Amino acid sequence: MVKIGLIGGSGLDDPQILQDAKEINADTPYGKPSSALTLGRISNVDTVLLTRHGKKHELSPTEVNYRANIRALKDQGVTHILATTACGSLREDIKRGDFIILDQFIDFAKHRKNTFHESFKNGMEHPVMADPFDATLRKTLYETSVELGFRTHNSGTVVTIEGPRFSTRAESKMFRIWGADVINMSVATEVALANEAGIPYAAVAMSTDYDCWKEDEEIVSWQEILKVFERNAHNVTELLIKVVEKVGS
Ligand code: ADE
Repeated sequence: MVKIGLIGGSGLDDPQILQDAKEINADTPYGKPSSALTLGRISNVDTVLLTRHGKKHELSPTEVNYRANIRALKDQGVTHILATTACGSLREDIKRGDFIILDQFIDFAKHRKNTFHESFKNGMEHPVMADPFDATLRKTLYETSVELGFRTHNSGTVVTIEGPRFSTRAESKMFRIWGADVINMSVATEVALANEAGIPYAAVAMSTDYDCWKEDEEIVSWQEILKVFERNAHNVTELLIKVVEKVGS
């Protein structure tokens, strides 16, 4: 039985996409998840929605309890996770409003609990992370996004930084040299934990800015990110609804 977990990033966490929605307050051995879980259905597919930064965006990227979020979804019996995130573009051809179906990450976060295997007390564990994003979910996301007519990149490496500050120009240029295509503050931590929990995970990133490497562009600001996100959020919703339908069938 398929049950989809949706993790909504900044600007994409509208519980109204669920039918027969009800909220529950979950708790886990790692603490409470970022928000109440909204349980409901999209086209008859059981779905659980979680708001990554809290309902009022009160959690900084460092404060998000990624372990509790993944564990809470696991406890609900979620079989697949679809996540959304805003990201900065590190490539000329990834334009504002474009979708990127992430396939790799570089983890540049520094102050978070990023594993369920912190202690080897109960046995040693070195999780494999070569291809962290689920190939089948990615394919469905990509094909559906193209069908809907959205500008979509079928792969991309995300570098996840700690935040809340944005990068310096030196960092931004370094990330490009490293091979990163987009930048955000959450996905690496989240997908790594989903992998450890054995839940197939894919993320659609929406490019909202050119970070600061591109000298002829406005430097990234939060106001700009939200503006682009709000202009395009309905596209993400449309995409997720279609993908949930397909995964469910
Ligand atoms: N999220 C959206 N744009 C970003 C950027 N430029 N850096 C980090 N996170 C982001």
